[in-house]
Amino acid sequence: MSTSPGRADVARSVAGRRRALWLGGLGFAALLLASAGVRAACDGPQVRPAQAAIASAHPLATEAGLKILDAGGNAFDAAVAVTAALAVVEPYGSGFGGGGFWLLHRAHDCHETMLDGRERAPLAAHRDLFLDDAGQFVPESALVGPLSAGIPGTPAGLVQLAEGYGRLPLAQTLAPAVGLARDGFDIGDGYRRVAAWRLSALRASPAGAAQFLVDDEVPPRGHRLRQPDLADTLERLASGGHAGFYAGETAERLVSGVRAAGGIWTLEDLAEYRAVEREPIVAQFRGWRLVSAAPPSSGGVLLVQILNMLSAIEPQPESDTQRVHALTETMRRAYRDRARYLGDPDHVEMPIERLTHPHYAAGLIRDFDPTRATPSTTPETDVPASEGRDTTHFSILDREGNRVAATLSINYPFGSGFVPPGTGVLLNDEMDDFSAQPGVANAYGLVGGEANAIAPGKRMLSSMSPTFLESSETVAILGTPGGSRIITMVLQGVLGAVDGVPLEDWIARPRIHHQYLPDRLEFESGALSPAEQRDLTAMGHRLELLIRPIGDMQAILWDRANGQVKAASDPRGAGHAEVR
Ligand code: GLY
Repeated sequence: MSTSPGRADVARSVAGRRRALWLGGLGFAALLLASAGVRAACDGPQVRPAQAAIASAHPLATEAGLKILDAGGNAFDAAVAVTAALAVVEPYGSGFGGGGFWLLHRAHDCHETMLDGRERAPLAAHRDLFLDDAGQFVPESALVGPLSAGIPGTPAGLVQLAEGYGRLPLAQTLAPAVGLARDGFDIGDGYRRVAAWRLSALRASPAGAAQFLVDDEVPPRGHRLRQPDLADTLERLASGGHAGFYAGETAERLVSGVRAAGGIWTLEDLAEYRAVEREPIVAQFRGWRLVSAAPPSSGGVLLVQILNMLSAIEPQPESDTQRVHALTETMRRAYRDRARYLGDPDHVEMPIERLTHPHYAAGLIRDFDPTRATPSTTPETDVPASEGRDTTHFSILDREGNRVAATLSINYPFGSGFVPPGTGVLLNDEMDDFSAQPGVANAYGLVGGEANAIAPGKRMLSSMSPTFLESSETVAILGTPGGSRIITMVLQGVLGAVDGVPLEDWIARPRIHHQYLPDRLEFESGALSPAEQRDLTAMGHRLELLIRPIGDMQAILWDRANGQVKAASDPRGAGHAEVR
């Protein structure tokens, strides 16, 4: 790894003061140019990592992926196995009733793509779906029960991943998940905590309660969770491919279960669903190449906007307080644009090139005052701290140099709570990620406008940000769950990696977050010193200490110079990273 003076400074600050690691040596002055692309520079002899690595949010999912690598599968086969295993052992975070994004790098031709398995609104959906007779948004209807569920994309994504990029059959890569669903696994404390939080949503669905609760209550410690219906559904997917889920027995049970409980899905919704490959957002920052999620995720665009703004600030901040202030102000401005411009690229025109251009960032930051916070215009909303049990992330590197960063979700923990009888498939409540009413916040406090309004067949805007970061010496693969905070957490990971902070430190360090509305600078315990809190408050920032840690980052670092591979799982979660 480079030992430029800036990096050495940061490394020293790591040893001496772990607190505000992400502040160190930002060196904002580098110019960032954004462009979309699907092919990384592939010139010169291709170096291969000495080892493979997997980091995921659950040890059993990491084990499932390693088993597939050991059986001769590549990173893409392992990604199928990890995705499916996470759906079984972390049913509150992601699943076959949900969706997500798989960011792929194929080593032999440096092909890069984002596999978009994001959910779609049912064809019978309309922009006022969640408004009452008085035209008011009814949040509960977008979060609980089958009306809140988009058409799932994860099964289609896995079929496409296996057929387009893997070398093993689905029957083999799904086998670990089938075993975990049929034989069961012991639930952990995280499961019990979020099951208690979503108890009423699960109780509202008889099949959901039967699958995830015991006698309608949170299962006791040590409970072995068996999901035989889900195992059967996975076997139909393994043998039938796309049609094994989106047609036939599974589709019929999904649709009849949803409709019997008041939902609006049709067989046509399922038959029409396809995962889509999209060009990732690609940019350069301080000699590093950033590759991240494209719309319908807002992640890549906002990451580039923030990095561009940081580069444009003159003079560069010097004190830690000034750096937090600068970072906060760039986050604020990027999230304002998220609400204004972003949505499903198949439904709305978005000025992506303009939004990610350095000149635009310079304009955005023109009213930046180094001594004062720029107020956001309110309506205030409550934003629950997403501790990272909604949504999940995993990162994979194989010995050929193939990479996967995947972030997957069913939205809120345990999604809609609704399981169509006889499927074992817990449905998402991703419809809440649409802007149900302009200017009215969703469960994560995010507001939106026309670009993200509900429409038939439209994908809802996401914050999921699976990301690659690459210099001539180093490759990083990273991502995290955490709702609207995903983007700023990945940003702080990117800044840590660029600054040469050791992997285990940039994963663990306390984080901050601002998302325009509500107008609050949120911080984890230890992120800001008492003096910084005082100074930032005096500058006009409204500070809020998060009562729970946020995120569950899973990351891999490959040092191409010496071949060394490292992997780390966020100490905030219960995941497992392994190099072998
Ligand atoms: N449901 C969380 C996200 O997609 O951003």
